[in-house]
Amino acid sequence: MYGLIHRYLKDHIIDSAGEEVWRSIASELRISPAELISQEVYDDALTFELVEVASRRLGRSVDDCLAAFGRFWIIRVSQDTYRAVMDFTGRDLGTFLKNLDRMHLSVAAVMPKARLPSFTLIEQGSGHFLVQYRSERTGLEPFVGGLLQGLLEWFDLSGKVEHVDSKTNSAEFLITLS
Ligand code: HEM
Repeated sequence: MYGLIHRYLKDHIIDSAGEEVWRSIASELRISPAELISQEVYDDALTFELVEVASRRLGRSVDDCLAAFGRFWIIRVSQDTYRAVMDFTGRDLGTFLKNLDRMHLSVAAVMPKARLPSFTLIEQGSGHFLVQYRSERTGLEPFVGGLLQGLLEWFDLSGKVEHVDSKTNSAEFLITLS
């Protein structure tokens, strides 16, 4: 994955555990501070290793770490240069979810080696959204749950996100507003 992901992961670790913990995780993974360039592509193995080591050091499960990172990701991209992209994607949750693929396509224009996921808003009812996530990667479902939770907060909504179904390379999430 692009180094952008790892840089945000690093920020998340520093935010939740401090600079010292990050330094020791980086040294365990033999990452130098100069590494993790946003525009460079790193092997997915590094991404998963980073999450695995962070979960061990933070005493939390890998799934919890991925979910927390998903929420953090939404907060960070909306404070960053990507704020305009977030605004442009949709002013309400339903529109945003419908436009997610288009938004990722615009990301692919500047990061052509990205292997981006795909999202489909299968159903939108009064107070609920059923979303399908498709990816060639496996194991990132808790990250998606955290991202969707982060989106609820981004739109000033409260509710729950449930992972309701999984197939090979796809999963469904039900968002229920409270
Ligand atoms: C401006 C905001 C965003 C930017 C710039 C962005 C960009 C990216 C980039 C660069 C990757 C890495 C792909 C690769 O290197 O192969 C990625 C992955 C991913 N993005 Fe986004 N993204 C944004 C928002 C979102 C949102 C709002 C969601 C979902 C609610 C989302 C879901 C994902 C997921 C699940 C992945 C992991 C890849 C996979 O599942 O295979 N992203 N994104």
